[in-house]
Amino acid sequence: MKTACYTAYGGPETIAFADAPPPRLAAGEVLIRVHAAPVTAGDARMRSGQVPRGFGVIFRLVIGWNRPRIAPGWAFSGEVAGLGAGVTSLAIGQRVFGLKGIKGGTHADYLVIGADRAILPLPDSLSHEEGAAFFFGGLTALQFLTVKAGLRPGERVLINGATGAVGSAAVQIAAHLGAKVTAVASSANHALALRLGATAVHDYRDGPVSGTFDVILDVIGTCGWTRARGLLASGGRLCLITADLAQTLGVALRPRRQGRRIIAGTSNEARSAMEHLLRLHHQGSYTPVLGEVLPFDQLQQAHRIAESFHKPGNLVVVMAP
Ligand SMILES: NC(=O)c1ccc[n+]([C@@H]2O[C@H](COP(=O)([O-])OP(=O)(O)OC[C@H]3O[C@@H](n4cnc5c(N)ncnc54)[C@H](OP(=O)(O)O)[C@@H]3O)[C@@H](O)[C@H]2O)c1
Repeated sequence: MKTACYTAYGGPETIAFADAPPPRLAAGEVLIRVHAAPVTAGDARMRSGQVPRGFGVIFRLVIGWNRPRIAPGWAFSGEVAGLGAGVTSLAIGQRVFGLKGIKGGTHADYLVIGADRAILPLPDSLSHEEGAAFFFGGLTALQFLTVKAGLRPGERVLINGATGAVGSAAVQIAAHLGAKVTAVASSANHALALRLGATAVHDYRDGPVSGTFDVILDVIGTCGWTRARGLLASGGRLCLITADLAQTLGVALRPRRQGRRIIAGTSNEARSAMEHLLRLHHQGSYTPVLGEVLPFDQLQQAHRIAESFHKPGNLVVVMAP
């Protein structure tokens, strides 16, 4: 089988392909033939080691000091190709999608995952490409908007970075929750934001946005408390989806400021969160936005696009049709 690997921290050229024997199955595990996998901002960060300021040392202690010691690829969509002893919840040939998480390994023709881990049947309403794109932005948007910020119907939401993987999910979910969404992205993507449910759009190249908001989702990390405090209503919440170490520590030490709340952190990848997002999809409130779809052998090019922070929706590589 063909599998991607990181050879060093650096540019997209540090991604290589290797031939590996098909993985062996232990009891309780499932072999997946991967059809498609997303290439995300997270994948680009894992490869390059470029993380928000202050997190570099912590990142290398966890991921690897001299090179990333994880396998590339966080999420997948594919088909069950083998069942380990005792697995009865899935069947050979069944369409499934899920997450391998931080240890990675989805940028490969095949992967192995525990049947009781982050894997769910892929509904007929989703293609493998959409299945691959489903969780990265969707889980992040859902967690920050609902669990962390407690968004309520009728509230005013500002999404800074509204048309990429996280933002395109956040616009849909916030609109579904009955919020009035202002989307910040370049004008080329304003039609997309409006189609997803935004009621107002702003191009970040035209200067800072104005208005009053109950929730600000700073997806791209250019807003921060300094700009947000003049935009947040009393009782407002600022979600720092991209935050540097100083901001993260600041939030831990002083989450409440002048009657507003600041929130940082990561999203929950638990199966219950995945099922919650899937319920939204079945209600017609969330479908991942597919941007570019590239063949697996163009993984380096996919990383180039992913690290631009200007991609519309989600970028996916396809291993098998
Ligand atoms: N905390 C967490 O758990 C978590 C989870 C997932 C991702 N993240 C982080 O979230 C960030 C975004 O990820 P993503 O996958 O959504 O990225 P993405 O797909 O590359 O999307 C980036 C978005 O930001 C917009 N943008 C670019 N420059 C901007 C600027 N100066 N001001 C305002 N908007 C701007 C882009 O619009 P245009 O294309 O129109 O320029 C696009 O809508 C990354 O830093 C990632 O590491 C954090």
